[in-house]
Amino acid sequence: MVRATGDNPEQPVPAGGGGSASELVRLRDGSSVAVRPASARDEPALESFLSGLCLEARRLRFFTGGADIASAAHAVSATGPHRYGLIAHDEGGVLVGHATYVQLDRTRAEVGVEVADHLQGRGLGTILIERLATVAESRGITLFVAEVLPENHAMLSVFHDGFDARSTFHDGTDAVEFPTASWRLARERFGEGRRSDGRRRDEGQLEE
Ligand SMILES: CC(C)(COP(=O)(O)OP(=O)(O)OC[C@H]1O[C@@H](n2cnc3c(N)ncnc32)[C@H](O)[C@@H]1OP(=O)(O)O)[C@@H](O)C(=O)NCCC(=O)NCCS
Repeated sequence: MVRATGDNPEQPVPAGGGGSASELVRLRDGSSVAVRPASARDEPALESFLSGLCLEARRLRFFTGGADIASAAHAVSATGPHRYGLIAHDEGGVLVGHATYVQLDRTRAEVGVEVADHLQGRGLGTILIERLATVAESRGITLFVAEVLPENHAMLSVFHDGFDARSTFHDGTDAVEFPTASWRLARERFGEGRRSDGRRRDEGQLEE
């Protein structure tokens, strides 16, 4: 059982989080992670998490394999009124996912996400973006944007399949955007108890 540790007063409770600062969510393989708001105290754990990502994952996230991870951890763990982050812990308390947005103007924010190599493809990236979008929407942010390398098919799939994002290729990157309200689409398509085809697990299908 993962304990809730997020108590940063700057951070609102995620919408749909049931009023708790930490929410237990189930992944596609049946395992659970706890998702909670990030705080500046997470910087050391984030540095360790980012350092542990494979070189290719770091390249896809930071657009260079030689990113200064200490600086990146400092930047992504910063708190304030115009940014918000979520952390996912596995059942052993290890940080296995992180997502953040930084507000660009009154209605737009840039979003970024990382999932531990061994947990990719189990729905965590989608869940983190979905929860982040609920918070952003409640703060008046209507559009999420992201710069994604065109070869980053996993990230583009998450945005397109879950959130009906639109992307435009420009200057070597895909500029992605989608309404924060699209978290409802992702919840409907991939929320707990649903499969990728939108049918519920109890509609005569085998458990995965
Ligand atoms: C990109 C990244 C965050 C994706 O995270 P993830 O947890 O692997 O993504 P998900 O498991 O949510 O989604 C993967 C796929 O499963 C699908 N999916 C998600 N939840 C699902 C569910 N419940 N049932 C069926 N399919 C599901 C997604 O639509 C996506 O589609 P695809 O199979 O066509 O690729 C992860 O690969 C990563 O950390 N990469 C390195 C860092 C990086 O590139 N960050 C982004 C920089 S902008």
